[in-house]
Amino acid sequence: MDKTIAIVTGASGGLGREFVKLLSKEKKLSEIWVVARNAQKLQQLAEEFGTKIRPIAKDLSDNVQRKELSAMIAEERAAIQYLINNAGYAKFCSYDDLSVEESINMINLNISAVVALGLYCIPYMKPGSHIINIASQASFQPLPYQNIYSSTKAFVRNYTRALNVELKDRRITATAVCPGWIDTGLYERGLIGAKKAASNFAGMVQPDVVAARAMRDARRGKDISVYGAHVKGAHFASKLLPQKVMMKLWLKQQHLK
Ligand SMILES: NC(=O)c1ccc[n+]([C@@H]2O[C@H](COP(=O)([O-])OP(=O)(O)OC[C@H]3O[C@@H](n4cnc5c(N)ncnc54)[C@H](OP(=O)(O)O)[C@@H]3O)[C@@H](O)[C@H]2O)c1
Repeated sequence: MDKTIAIVTGASGGLGREFVKLLSKEKKLSEIWVVARNAQKLQQLAEEFGTKIRPIAKDLSDNVQRKELSAMIAEERAAIQYLINNAGYAKFCSYDDLSVEESINMINLNISAVVALGLYCIPYMKPGSHIINIASQASFQPLPYQNIYSSTKAFVRNYTRALNVELKDRRITATAVCPGWIDTGLYERGLIGAKKAASNFAGMVQPDVVAARAMRDARRGKDISVYGAHVKGAHFASKLLPQKVMMKLWLKQQHLK
């Protein structure tokens, strides 16, 4: 393993782009593999952050394309210092505003891609390597009108924390990042004009602070990364209050009945 690389999914914008920016300053990395569907945006990253960037256009909700990425990883045999499973999306709507295919696709990207990429990468990770999986504040409780999204993020949070324990002997860390609202393209994709949808995005932060905090927490070996007083308050409340009460508070905050 001559090369040391990082892999960032959902790198073409939003939070993923901020991870790429931070990683581009790490001298130890020979390459940063940036994965998303939009090849043009990935190419722009290469122009902006230099020759270390390797654009890889893949739809990670598709098992065939995930396997193609796995084959590239196996062929390269590089040491993987960071895997940042960031690609994901939400739909702000009721369960019946989405087709079955759309609902399953969200699970394929938000859950299946996270698990598959972790399993593909772990054999190439050395002691001191990090897996950073992007969950959400939405993982703290069930969220009506973001039903599937919040459930996928609950999976990511639980899975990652348990994986962190299993990887202790190999001195690899796994960190679940649980941000609140972040100012990214998620909303353009998520707000589909549904009658019932989240509309109160209080406490919204910029993606750079979330990425910086996540990197710091991963290096400290934390299994969960929570940025900001707003989200920390919600995290604490979710440990104290029954989930029924948390759901009622959410509906009230979002003016949803
Ligand atoms: N924004 C928030 O308020 C918020 C809060 C908590 C957690 N999060 C989480 O943060 C992560 C990053 O989201 P973001 O807020 O930065 O949203 P974003 O700006 O929409 O970025 C999402 C990224 O994922 C990529 N992507 C989407 N579908 C993909 C697919 N099928 N295959 C491969 N890549 C795909 C997109 O690129 P392409 O379109 O080019 O594929 C893009 O690079 C997500 O996991 C999200 O759930 C966001």
